[in-house]
Amino acid sequence: MSGEDIREKIKKAEKNVTEINNDRYRQTFHLMAPVGWINDPNGLCEKNGEYNVFFQYSPLDVCGGEKIWGRYTSRDLLKWKYRGAPIINDCEWDRDGVYTGSAIVCDDIMHIFYTGNVKYMGNYDYINEGRESNLIYINDKDWKKRLLLKTEDFPENMTQHIRDPKVWEENGHYYIVLGARRKDEKGAVIVYKLNDIEDVPEFVNEITTERRFGYMWECPDVFKLENQCFLAVSPQGVESEEYRYQNVYQSGYFSVDGDIKRDCDLVNFTEWDMGFDFYAPQTFEDEKGRRILIGWVGMPDSEYRNPTLEKGWQNCLTLPRVLEYKNGKIYQKPVEEINKLRKEKTSLNSNEEINVWTCDIEITNINSQKFEAVIKGVLNIKYSDNVFKIILNQYGRGERKLVLYSLESIRILADSSVAEIYINNGEYVFTTMFYSESGKTVIRCENAGITLWQMDKTEVKY
Ligand code: FRU
Repeated sequence: MSGEDIREKIKKAEKNVTEINNDRYRQTFHLMAPVGWINDPNGLCEKNGEYNVFFQYSPLDVCGGEKIWGRYTSRDLLKWKYRGAPIINDCEWDRDGVYTGSAIVCDDIMHIFYTGNVKYMGNYDYINEGRESNLIYINDKDWKKRLLLKTEDFPENMTQHIRDPKVWEENGHYYIVLGARRKDEKGAVIVYKLNDIEDVPEFVNEITTERRFGYMWECPDVFKLENQCFLAVSPQGVESEEYRYQNVYQSGYFSVDGDIKRDCDLVNFTEWDMGFDFYAPQTFEDEKGRRILIGWVGMPDSEYRNPTLEKGWQNCLTLPRVLEYKNGKIYQKPVEEINKLRKEKTSLNSNEEINVWTCDIEITNINSQKFEAVIKGVLNIKYSDNVFKIILNQYGRGERKLVLYSLESIRILADSSVAEIYINNGEYVFTTMFYSESGKTVIRCENAGITLWQMDKTEVKY
């Protein structure tokens, strides 16, 4: 299809946005695709006070067919503008999908790196043969695509699954990390140095764990908090355990011991989120110096089914979360801008039932070995015997759980059909889609303070 034909089709599909927005499950303060499917956040950055959230977008296929990049911008993380689809699969290097990538702003230019996906027709295994994963560069001056690396340029020991470039700056140099599947079925990342931003990148390192941790690592990210370097990845092929790795694919971070560009060890993989729907997050540093994470609320290849697909849309993004490194862990907290959406405030008693559709609930001073909540009639939260659980008996979900020795506080941000549950000020988070018929919400716990705010909407202009 020519670029023009693709644009014509997107335009036609996006005409349905008003109708789709009538669906009761459309979120009111989480970003979604205008129509169709959304997955990974891409190209997160702030340029001259304007936040950019690009995203993997399939406007023509609600189940996620060919991917392009959609774009939202905002000055305050509350009022958003949809800026169309600036990168579409209109060239030979990305004809089967404009896959995940990242952006960095320097000298007033936004530099974007992404993977161009190409799949040949024929009888291929699509692991070692039959596909291309091209590293492509674009900037926001001319939006012209430039091919930096082709599949055959990557190291010999890699399959053709190499993707999701994440760019970062360190001591005046730019580096890119890419996720990879090795021929020996080990997930890994490879690191390149950009001597000049448009030059051929120079291979500098390959990193994996000593013991195999899945066969593929998607969506890598490298960042520092308090001078500690972290490598985040979304591994596939990690075996599930009772209290860990409960989803089909995982996402989390390693501490990096040593220099990621030369020689290092990866220590302690910690999952970002324990809920049903969280994958492929990306971080960026904003102009206030905050390290902000946004994740995809969704899960590839899972058994979950979202009833909204019949309405022409699926999935959303998490709230932007500020990362803080303390007590040897990364804590996640919704950016404080979200508090501006709080409307009427109610102090609730334990066992008091309230009827709300979207809300922000804060439960503090829990100090108890037992806690229970039912959010909008369907999402059950339980804490007892040092196990924290969410239970959701619908659409292929079940329960997700965590060993937790002390429950001090919970914050629940419940939108129309997504909830983010922050435990102990962001020490742990559970994110899940959920589909409720009613707003009946009740919290059961002794002696704690329960405050609930009804929530205003963020504004999205199409
Ligand atoms: C992660 C991912 C990436 C890929 C993109 C395609 O969800 O599979 O590895 O680039 O989605 O949409």
